[in-house]
Amino acid sequence: MNIPVITYGTSQDNLVSGLERLHGPVTVVRRCAELTELLAACQSGLARAAVVSDGTEGLTASLVARLDALGVSVVALTDEHGEAERLGAIGVVPAAAGIDPGDLAGAISDAVRGQGDRSGRRASVHNEFSGLDAEAPRNNPGLPAQDAAAEERVGKVIAVWGPAGAPGRTLLAVNLAAELAAAGSSVMLVDADSYGASAAAVLGLLDEAAGLAQACRLADQGVLTVDALRTMAADVHTKGGTLQLLSGITRADRWTELRPSALSTVLEVAAQTAQVVVIDVGFCLESDEELSFDTLAPRRNGATLRCLELADEVIAVGAADAIGVPRLVRGLAELETAVPNATVRVVMNKVRSSSAGRSPRRQLSEAWERFGPAHGIEAYLPADFEACDAALLSGQVLSECAPDSALRRAIAGLVCAPNHENRRSFGRSSRALTFLKR
Ligand SMILES: Nc1ncnc2c1ncn2[C@@H]1O[C@H](COP(=O)(O)OP(=O)(O)OP(=O)(O)O)[C@@H](O)[C@H]1O
Ligand SMILES: [Mg+2]
Repeated sequence: MNIPVITYGTSQDNLVSGLERLHGPVTVVRRCAELTELLAACQSGLARAAVVSDGTEGLTASLVARLDALGVSVVALTDEHGEAERLGAIGVVPAAAGIDPGDLAGAISDAVRGQGDRSGRRASVHNEFSGLDAEAPRNNPGLPAQDAAAEERVGKVIAVWGPAGAPGRTLLAVNLAAELAAAGSSVMLVDADSYGASAAAVLGLLDEAAGLAQACRLADQGVLTVDALRTMAADVHTKGGTLQLLSGITRADRWTELRPSALSTVLEVAAQTAQVVVIDVGFCLESDEELSFDTLAPRRNGATLRCLELADEVIAVGAADAIGVPRLVRGLAELETAVPNATVRVVMNKVRSSSAGRSPRRQLSEAWERFGPAHGIEAYLPADFEACDAALLSGQVLSECAPDSALRRAIAGLVCAPNHENRRSFGRSSRALTFLKR
Protein backbone atom coordinates (compact mmCIF):
# COMPACT_ATOMS: atom_id res chain seq x y z
CA MET A 1 0.00 0.00 0.00
CA ASN A 2 1.32 3.43 -0.91
CA ILE A 3 0.41 5.90 1.79
CA PRO A 4 -0.58 9.42 0.69
CA VAL A 5 0.99 11.95 3.03
CA ILE A 6 0.54 15.68 3.61
CA THR A 7 3.38 17.65 5.12
CA TYR A 8 3.29 20.83 7.18
CA GLY A 9 6.14 23.05 8.31
CA THR A 10 8.54 25.56 6.88
CA SER A 11 11.50 23.21 6.99
CA GLN A 12 9.92 20.47 4.94
CA ASP A 13 11.93 20.58 1.72
CA ASN A 14 14.59 18.07 2.78
CA LEU A 15 11.97 15.92 4.36
CA VAL A 16 9.85 15.78 1.22
CA SER A 17 12.75 15.11 -1.12
CA GLY A 18 14.04 12.43 1.27
CA LEU A 19 10.66 10.68 1.27
CA GLU A 20 10.33 11.04 -2.50
CA ARG A 21 13.70 9.42 -3.11
CA LEU A 22 12.44 6.30 -1.38
CA HIS A 23 9.78 5.68 -4.08
CA GLY A 24 7.42 4.16 -1.49
CA PRO A 25 5.83 3.21 0.80
CA VAL A 26 4.74 6.84 1.19
CA THR A 27 3.97 9.57 -1.32
CA VAL A 28 3.81 13.26 -0.47
CA VAL A 29 0.61 14.50 -2.09
CA ARG A 30 0.50 18.04 -0.67
CA ARG A 31 2.75 20.48 1.17
CA CYS A 32 0.95 22.92 3.44
CA ALA A 33 2.14 26.16 4.98
CA GLU A 34 -0.76 26.44 7.47
CA LEU A 35 -2.40 23.99 9.81
CA THR A 36 -5.80 25.08 8.56
CA GLU A 37 -4.72 24.21 5.03
CA LEU A 38 -3.59 20.82 6.27
CA LEU A 39 -6.96 20.26 7.90
CA ALA A 40 -8.85 21.24 4.78
CA ALA A 41 -6.71 18.93 2.65
CA CYS A 42 -7.28 16.06 5.08
CA GLN A 43 -11.01 16.71 5.01
CA SER A 44 -11.06 16.22 1.29
CA GLY A 45 -9.80 12.69 1.90
CA LEU A 46 -6.47 13.34 0.24
CA ALA A 47 -4.19 11.72 2.79
CA ARG A 48 -3.83 8.93 5.33
CA ALA A 49 -1.05 10.62 7.25
CA ALA A 50 0.25 14.07 8.07
CA VAL A 51 3.86 14.87 8.91
CA VAL A 52 4.41 18.03 10.92
CA SER A 53 8.03 19.05 10.61
CA ASP A 54 7.92 22.15 12.80
CA GLY A 55 5.40 24.30 14.64
CA THR A 56 4.26 21.24 16.57
CA GLU A 57 2.91 23.53 19.33
CA GLY A 58 -0.10 24.12 17.07
CA LEU A 59 -1.15 20.49 17.47
CA THR A 60 -3.86 20.12 20.10
CA ALA A 61 -5.80 17.09 21.29
CA SER A 62 -8.97 18.22 19.56
CA LEU A 63 -7.19 18.85 16.26
CA VAL A 64 -5.48 15.46 16.41
CA ALA A 65 -8.77 13.79 17.32
CA ARG A 66 -10.38 15.48 14.32
CA LEU A 67 -7.68 14.17 12.04
CA ASP A 68 -7.97 10.75 13.62
CA ALA A 69 -11.69 10.75 12.88
CA LEU A 70 -10.88 11.61 9.27
CA GLY A 71 -8.61 8.58 9.13
CA VAL A 72 -5.40 10.61 9.22
CA SER A 73 -2.48 9.71 11.49
CA VAL A 74 -0.09 12.42 12.60
CA VAL A 75 3.67 12.09 12.89
CA ALA A 76 5.49 15.14 14.27
CA LEU A 77 9.18 15.90 14.38
CA THR A 78 10.77 17.34 17.50
CA ASP A 79 13.98 17.00 19.45
CA GLU A 80 12.51 18.31 22.68
CA HIS A 81 11.77 15.54 25.13
CA GLY A 82 8.92 17.42 26.85
CA GLU A 83 7.24 18.23 23.54
CA ALA A 84 7.60 14.62 22.38
CA GLU A 85 5.86 13.49 25.57
CA ARG A 86 3.10 16.03 25.10
CA LEU A 87 2.61 14.93 21.49
CA GLY A 88 2.46 11.28 22.53
CA ALA A 89 -0.18 12.16 25.11
CA ILE A 90 -2.48 13.71 22.51
CA GLY A 91 -2.16 10.83 20.05
CA VAL A 92 0.65 12.04 17.79
CA VAL A 93 3.58 9.80 16.91
CA PRO A 94 6.71 11.81 17.78
CA ALA A 95 9.97 11.36 15.88
CA ALA A 96 13.38 13.02 16.01
CA ALA A 97 13.80 16.11 13.81
CA GLY A 98 16.75 14.60 11.98
CA ILE A 99 15.12 11.21 11.40
CA ASP A 100 16.32 9.23 8.42
CA PRO A 101 13.71 9.24 5.58
CA GLY A 102 13.47 5.44 5.62
CA ASP A 103 12.78 5.45 9.36
CA LEU A 104 10.26 8.23 8.92
CA ALA A 105 8.44 6.23 6.26
CA GLY A 106 8.42 3.29 8.69
CA ALA A 107 6.99 5.45 11.47
CA ILE A 108 4.29 6.74 9.11
CA SER A 109 3.37 3.20 8.05
CA ASP A 110 3.16 2.06 11.68
CA ALA A 111 1.01 5.04 12.61
CA VAL A 112 -1.37 4.38 9.73
CA ARG A 113 -1.59 0.70 10.62
CA GLY A 114 -2.41 1.64 14.22
CA GLN A 115 -5.03 4.06 12.98
CA GLY A 116 -6.68 1.32 10.90
CA ASP A 117 -6.88 -0.98 13.91
CA ARG A 118 -8.42 1.78 15.97
CA SER A 119 -11.13 2.67 13.48
CA GLY A 120 -12.05 -0.99 13.15
CA ARG A 121 -12.48 -1.32 16.86
CA ARG A 122 -14.24 2.02 17.13
CA ALA A 123 -16.75 1.10 14.46
CA SER A 124 -17.59 -2.11 16.26
CA VAL A 125 -18.36 -0.50 19.58
CA HIS A 126 -19.90 2.82 18.65
CA ASN A 127 -23.47 3.74 18.18
CA GLU A 128 -24.91 5.72 15.33
CA PHE A 129 -24.05 8.99 17.07
CA SER A 130 -20.62 8.30 18.38
CA GLY A 131 -19.71 6.31 15.28
CA LEU A 132 -19.64 9.66 13.53
CA ASP A 133 -17.92 11.27 16.43
CA ALA A 134 -15.11 13.40 15.21
CA GLU A 135 -13.35 13.51 18.55
CA ALA A 136 -11.67 10.60 20.22
CA PRO A 137 -13.50 8.93 23.08
CA ARG A 138 -11.85 7.81 26.27
CA ASN A 139 -9.90 4.56 26.15
CA ASN A 140 -9.08 5.04 22.50
CA PRO A 141 -6.71 2.10 22.07
CA GLY A 142 -4.49 4.03 19.71
CA LEU A 143 -3.63 6.81 22.08
CA PRO A 144 -0.95 5.54 24.39
CA ALA A 145 -1.33 8.23 27.04
CA GLN A 146 -5.04 7.72 27.23
CA ASP A 147 -4.56 3.97 27.49
CA ALA A 148 -2.21 4.45 30.36
CA ALA A 149 -4.67 6.82 31.97
CA ALA A 150 -7.48 4.33 31.53
CA GLU A 151 -5.49 1.70 33.36
CA GLU A 152 -4.74 4.08 36.19
CA ARG A 153 -8.31 5.17 36.55
CA VAL A 154 -9.82 4.36 39.92
CA GLY A 155 -12.78 6.65 40.47
CA LYS A 156 -16.34 6.03 39.50
CA VAL A 157 -18.06 8.56 37.22
CA ILE A 158 -21.69 9.43 37.89
CA ALA A 159 -23.50 11.84 35.57
CA VAL A 160 -26.64 13.57 36.81
CA TRP A 161 -28.83 14.35 33.82
CA GLY A 162 -32.44 15.29 33.28
CA PRO A 163 -34.59 16.88 30.59
CA ALA A 164 -35.37 20.59 30.20
CA GLY A 165 -37.42 22.34 32.85
CA ALA A 166 -35.05 22.48 35.83
CA PRO A 167 -36.00 19.10 37.32
CA GLY A 168 -33.25 19.39 39.94
CA ARG A 169 -30.05 18.14 38.29
CA THR A 170 -27.84 20.60 40.10
CA LEU A 171 -29.51 20.18 43.47
CA LEU A 172 -29.11 16.44 43.20
CA ALA A 173 -25.54 16.51 41.87
CA VAL A 174 -24.34 18.93 44.56
CA ASN A 175 -26.01 17.12 47.43
CA LEU A 176 -25.04 13.70 46.14
CA ALA A 177 -21.43 14.88 46.03
CA ALA A 178 -21.74 16.27 49.55
CA GLU A 179 -23.24 13.03 50.89
CA LEU A 180 -20.50 10.98 49.25
CA ALA A 181 -17.85 13.24 50.78
CA ALA A 182 -19.54 12.97 54.16
CA ALA A 183 -19.48 9.19 53.84
CA GLY A 184 -15.71 9.31 53.41
CA SER A 185 -15.17 9.23 49.66
CA SER A 186 -12.93 11.70 47.91
CA VAL A 187 -15.23 13.49 45.50
CA MET A 188 -14.83 15.81 42.57
CA LEU A 189 -17.95 17.60 41.40
CA VAL A 190 -17.70 18.69 37.77
CA ASP A 191 -20.10 21.29 36.44
CA ALA A 192 -20.35 20.41 32.76
CA ASP A 193 -23.72 22.03 32.11
CA SER A 194 -22.89 24.02 29.01
CA TYR A 195 -26.21 25.90 29.09
CA GLY A 196 -26.43 27.06 32.67
CA ALA A 197 -23.64 26.16 35.08
CA SER A 198 -24.75 26.80 38.64
CA ALA A 199 -22.99 24.41 41.01
CA ALA A 200 -20.61 27.12 42.28
CA ALA A 201 -23.49 29.50 42.97
CA VAL A 202 -25.46 26.76 44.73
CA LEU A 203 -22.44 26.14 46.94
CA GLY A 204 -22.16 29.84 47.75
CA LEU A 205 -18.94 30.41 45.82
CA LEU A 206 -18.26 33.50 43.80
CA ASP A 207 -16.41 31.40 41.29
CA GLU A 208 -16.00 32.98 37.89
CA ALA A 209 -12.86 30.99 37.14
CA ALA A 210 -14.59 28.20 35.23
CA GLY A 211 -12.11 25.59 36.43
CA LEU A 212 -13.51 23.08 33.95
CA ALA A 213 -12.75 25.36 30.98
CA GLN A 214 -9.21 25.88 32.28
CA ALA A 215 -8.74 22.14 32.69
CA CYS A 216 -10.07 21.53 29.18
CA ARG A 217 -7.57 24.04 27.82
CA LEU A 218 -4.66 22.18 29.40
CA ALA A 219 -6.08 18.83 28.33
CA ASP A 220 -6.32 20.06 24.76
CA GLN A 221 -2.65 21.00 24.88
CA GLY A 222 -1.84 17.55 26.29
CA VAL A 223 -0.40 18.89 29.54
CA LEU A 224 -3.14 18.24 32.09
CA THR A 225 -1.84 16.45 35.18
CA VAL A 226 -3.51 15.38 38.41
CA ASP A 227 -1.70 18.17 40.28
CA ALA A 228 -2.76 20.80 37.76
CA LEU A 229 -6.36 19.62 37.94
CA ARG A 230 -6.33 19.86 41.72
CA THR A 231 -5.21 23.48 41.56
CA MET A 232 -8.08 24.32 39.22
CA ALA A 233 -10.67 22.76 41.47
CA ALA A 234 -12.01 24.71 44.44
CA ASP A 235 -12.08 23.00 47.83
CA VAL A 236 -15.58 23.17 49.23
CA HIS A 237 -15.76 22.49 52.94
CA THR A 238 -19.09 21.31 54.28
CA LYS A 239 -19.85 20.19 57.81
CA GLY A 240 -19.74 16.57 56.67
CA GLY A 241 -16.57 16.69 54.60
CA THR A 242 -14.68 18.40 51.81
CA LEU A 243 -15.32 18.02 48.12
CA GLN A 244 -13.59 19.50 45.13
CA LEU A 245 -15.50 21.54 42.62
CA LEU A 246 -14.51 22.04 39.02
CA SER A 247 -16.76 24.97 38.26
CA GLY A 248 -18.46 25.43 34.91
CA ILE A 249 -18.87 28.12 32.30
CA THR A 250 -21.34 30.70 33.47
CA ARG A 251 -21.92 32.12 30.00
CA ALA A 252 -23.62 29.76 27.58
CA ASP A 253 -21.72 31.28 24.63
CA ARG A 254 -18.49 29.78 26.01
CA TRP A 255 -19.68 26.24 25.26
CA THR A 256 -17.00 25.74 22.60
CA GLU A 257 -14.43 25.67 25.42
CA LEU A 258 -15.77 22.30 26.55
CA ARG A 259 -14.42 20.21 23.70
CA PRO A 260 -15.43 16.57 24.01
CA SER A 261 -11.94 15.20 23.47
CA ALA A 262 -10.50 17.51 26.12
CA LEU A 263 -13.37 16.73 28.46
CA SER A 264 -12.60 13.02 28.14
CA THR A 265 -9.10 13.66 29.39
CA VAL A 266 -10.32 15.91 32.21
CA LEU A 267 -12.71 13.21 33.42
CA GLU A 268 -10.01 10.61 33.14
CA VAL A 269 -7.64 12.66 35.24
CA ALA A 270 -10.44 13.53 37.69
CA ALA A 271 -11.11 9.83 38.15
CA GLN A 272 -7.45 9.36 39.01
CA THR A 273 -7.62 11.88 41.81
CA ALA A 274 -11.12 11.26 43.21
CA GLN A 275 -12.91 8.07 44.18
CA VAL A 276 -16.13 9.43 42.78
CA VAL A 277 -16.59 12.03 40.06
CA VAL A 278 -20.09 13.52 39.99
CA ILE A 279 -20.99 15.47 36.84
CA ASP A 280 -23.81 17.96 36.49
CA VAL A 281 -24.61 17.82 32.77
CA GLY A 282 -26.81 19.90 30.47
CA PHE A 283 -30.26 18.76 29.45
CA CYS A 284 -30.03 18.79 25.66
CA LEU A 285 -29.07 15.59 23.84
CA GLU A 286 -29.59 16.78 20.27
CA SER A 287 -26.70 15.84 18.08
CA ASP A 288 -25.56 18.08 15.26
CA GLU A 289 -22.75 15.75 14.29
CA GLU A 290 -23.92 14.95 10.82
CA LEU A 291 -23.86 18.64 10.00
CA SER A 292 -20.62 19.36 11.75
CA PHE A 293 -18.70 16.34 10.59
CA ASP A 294 -17.92 17.86 7.21
CA THR A 295 -17.40 21.37 8.43
CA LEU A 296 -15.19 20.88 11.48
CA ALA A 297 -17.69 22.85 13.50
CA PRO A 298 -17.77 21.91 17.17
CA ARG A 299 -20.93 20.23 18.42
CA ARG A 300 -23.25 22.24 20.64
CA ASN A 301 -24.06 19.31 22.89
CA GLY A 302 -20.79 17.46 22.51
CA ALA A 303 -19.87 18.03 26.17
CA THR A 304 -23.16 16.59 27.45
CA LEU A 305 -23.00 13.59 25.17
CA ARG A 306 -19.39 12.87 25.99
CA CYS A 307 -20.04 13.00 29.75
CA LEU A 308 -22.96 10.61 29.37
CA GLU A 309 -20.91 8.27 27.19
CA LEU A 310 -18.14 8.13 29.75
CA ALA A 311 -20.22 7.87 32.90
CA ASP A 312 -20.35 4.55 34.71
CA GLU A 313 -23.81 5.51 35.79
CA VAL A 314 -26.35 8.11 34.68
CA ILE A 315 -28.86 9.35 37.21
CA ALA A 316 -31.83 10.58 35.20
CA VAL A 317 -33.87 13.04 37.22
CA GLY A 318 -37.34 14.25 36.33
CA ALA A 319 -39.81 16.65 37.88
CA ALA A 320 -42.80 14.87 39.39
CA ASP A 321 -45.56 16.76 37.63
CA ALA A 322 -47.66 16.61 34.51
CA ILE A 323 -44.94 18.29 32.43
CA GLY A 324 -41.86 16.72 33.99
CA VAL A 325 -42.95 13.06 33.80
CA PRO A 326 -43.67 12.88 30.05
CA ARG A 327 -40.55 14.93 29.41
CA LEU A 328 -38.47 12.41 31.31
CA VAL A 329 -40.08 9.52 29.43
CA ARG A 330 -39.24 11.15 26.10
CA GLY A 331 -35.83 12.16 27.39
CA LEU A 332 -35.00 8.57 28.34
CA ALA A 333 -35.85 7.44 24.81
CA GLU A 334 -33.52 10.13 23.43
CA LEU A 335 -30.85 9.10 25.90
CA GLU A 336 -31.10 5.50 24.79
CA THR A 337 -30.59 6.53 21.17
CA ALA A 338 -27.75 8.90 21.97
CA VAL A 339 -25.93 6.76 24.51
CA PRO A 340 -27.09 3.15 24.17
CA ASN A 341 -24.54 1.85 26.65
CA ALA A 342 -25.58 4.08 29.54
CA THR A 343 -26.52 2.48 32.84
CA VAL A 344 -29.44 4.51 34.07
CA ARG A 345 -31.11 5.09 37.45
CA VAL A 346 -34.35 7.02 37.35
CA VAL A 347 -35.10 9.48 40.14
CA MET A 348 -38.31 11.46 40.50
CA ASN A 349 -37.84 14.83 42.18
CA LYS A 350 -40.09 17.45 43.75
CA VAL A 351 -42.62 14.76 44.62
CA ARG A 352 -45.71 16.29 46.22
CA SER A 353 -49.40 15.62 46.35
CA SER A 354 -50.32 19.07 45.02
CA SER A 355 -48.81 18.15 41.62
CA ALA A 356 -49.26 14.37 41.54
CA GLY A 357 -52.42 13.78 43.57
CA ARG A 358 -52.99 12.02 46.85
CA SER A 359 -50.47 9.20 47.43
CA PRO A 360 -48.10 10.80 44.93
CA ARG A 361 -45.65 7.90 44.87
CA ARG A 362 -48.36 5.43 43.92
CA GLN A 363 -49.83 7.81 41.35
CA LEU A 364 -46.43 8.38 39.83
CA SER A 365 -45.46 4.75 39.69
CA GLU A 366 -48.80 3.83 38.09
CA ALA A 367 -48.43 6.61 35.54
CA TRP A 368 -44.87 5.48 34.92
CA GLU A 369 -46.00 1.93 34.25
CA ARG A 370 -48.60 3.16 31.80
CA PHE A 371 -45.99 5.14 29.84
CA GLY A 372 -43.99 1.91 29.79
CA PRO A 373 -40.28 2.81 29.86
CA ALA A 374 -37.98 -0.07 30.77
CA HIS A 375 -36.56 1.75 33.74
CA GLY A 376 -38.39 1.59 37.01
CA ILE A 377 -38.30 4.59 39.30
CA GLU A 378 -35.54 4.03 41.81
CA ALA A 379 -36.15 6.91 44.18
CA TYR A 380 -38.73 9.55 44.96
CA LEU A 381 -37.29 12.79 46.32
CA PRO A 382 -39.91 14.85 48.12
CA ALA A 383 -40.52 18.49 47.31
CA ASP A 384 -39.16 20.65 50.08
CA PHE A 385 -39.12 24.24 48.93
CA GLU A 386 -38.29 25.56 52.35
CA ALA A 387 -35.15 23.43 52.68
CA CYS A 388 -34.05 24.11 49.09
CA ASP A 389 -34.54 27.85 49.43
CA ALA A 390 -32.68 27.87 52.74
CA ALA A 391 -29.82 25.95 51.13
CA LEU A 392 -29.66 28.38 48.21
CA LEU A 393 -29.84 31.42 50.45
CA SER A 394 -27.05 30.24 52.69
CA GLY A 395 -24.91 28.53 50.05
CA GLN A 396 -25.04 25.35 52.08
CA VAL A 397 -25.85 21.77 51.25
CA LEU A 398 -28.93 20.09 52.69
CA SER A 399 -26.92 18.10 55.22
CA GLU A 400 -25.93 21.45 56.75
CA CYS A 401 -29.10 23.49 56.60
CA ALA A 402 -31.78 20.80 56.71
CA PRO A 403 -30.05 17.64 57.96
CA ASP A 404 -33.24 15.97 59.17
CA SER A 405 -35.37 16.79 56.15
CA ALA A 406 -36.95 13.95 54.21
CA LEU A 407 -35.34 15.33 51.05
CA ARG A 408 -31.85 15.15 52.49
CA ARG A 409 -32.49 11.64 53.81
CA ALA A 410 -33.76 10.48 50.42
CA ILE A 411 -30.63 11.79 48.68
CA ALA A 412 -28.41 10.18 51.32
CA GLY A 413 -30.36 6.97 50.74
CA LEU A 414 -29.39 7.07 47.07
CA VAL A 415 -25.76 7.03 48.10
CA CYS A 416 -25.96 4.28 50.64
CA ALA A 417 -28.51 1.83 49.37
CA PRO A 418 -28.76 1.77 45.61
CA ASN A 419 -31.68 -0.26 44.39
CA HIS A 420 -30.32 -2.73 41.87
CA GLU A 421 -33.82 -3.78 40.77
CA ASN A 422 -34.46 -0.52 39.03
CA ARG A 423 -31.07 0.15 37.58
CA ARG A 424 -31.13 -0.63 33.90
CA SER A 425 -28.54 -0.67 31.26
CA PHE A 426 -29.63 0.14 27.74
CA GLY A 427 -26.98 -1.96 26.11
CA ARG A 428 -24.75 -3.79 28.55
CA SER A 429 -25.30 -5.59 31.80
CA SER A 430 -25.36 -3.37 34.85
CA ARG A 431 -22.09 -3.17 36.68
CA ALA A 432 -24.14 -3.20 39.90
CA LEU A 433 -21.69 -1.11 41.86
CA THR A 434 -22.59 0.79 44.94
CA PHE A 435 -21.25 4.32 45.06
CA LEU A 436 -19.11 3.56 48.04
CA LYS A 437 -17.45 0.41 46.80
CA ARG A 438 -14.37 2.16 45.57
N1 LIG B 1 -36.95 18.45 45.83
C1 LIG B 1 -37.05 19.76 45.66
N2 LIG B 1 -37.95 20.48 46.37
C2 LIG B 1 -38.07 21.79 46.20
N3 LIG B 1 -37.33 22.52 45.36
C3 LIG B 1 -36.42 21.88 44.63
C4 LIG B 1 -36.22 20.47 44.75
N4 LIG B 1 -35.22 20.12 43.90
C5 LIG B 1 -34.82 21.25 43.29
N5 LIG B 1 -35.53 22.30 43.73
C6 LIG B 1 -35.40 23.70 43.32
O1 LIG B 1 -35.74 23.78 41.94
C7 LIG B 1 -34.94 24.76 41.31
C8 LIG B 1 -34.22 24.11 40.15
O2 LIG B 1 -33.32 23.14 40.66
P1 LIG B 1 -31.92 22.87 39.96
O3 LIG B 1 -31.22 24.15 39.74
O4 LIG B 1 -31.25 21.83 40.73
O5 LIG B 1 -32.45 22.31 38.58
P2 LIG B 1 -31.63 21.97 37.24
O6 LIG B 1 -32.27 20.78 36.67
O7 LIG B 1 -30.20 21.91 37.54
O8 LIG B 1 -31.98 23.24 36.35
P3 LIG B 1 -31.15 24.05 35.24
O9 LIG B 1 -31.85 23.75 33.95
O10 LIG B 1 -31.24 25.46 35.64
O11 LIG B 1 -29.74 23.52 35.26
C9 LIG B 1 -34.00 25.32 42.37
O12 LIG B 1 -34.55 26.47 42.88
C10 LIG B 1 -33.98 24.22 43.42
O13 LIG B 1 -33.71 24.72 44.71
MG1 LIG C 1 -28.56 22.98 36.82
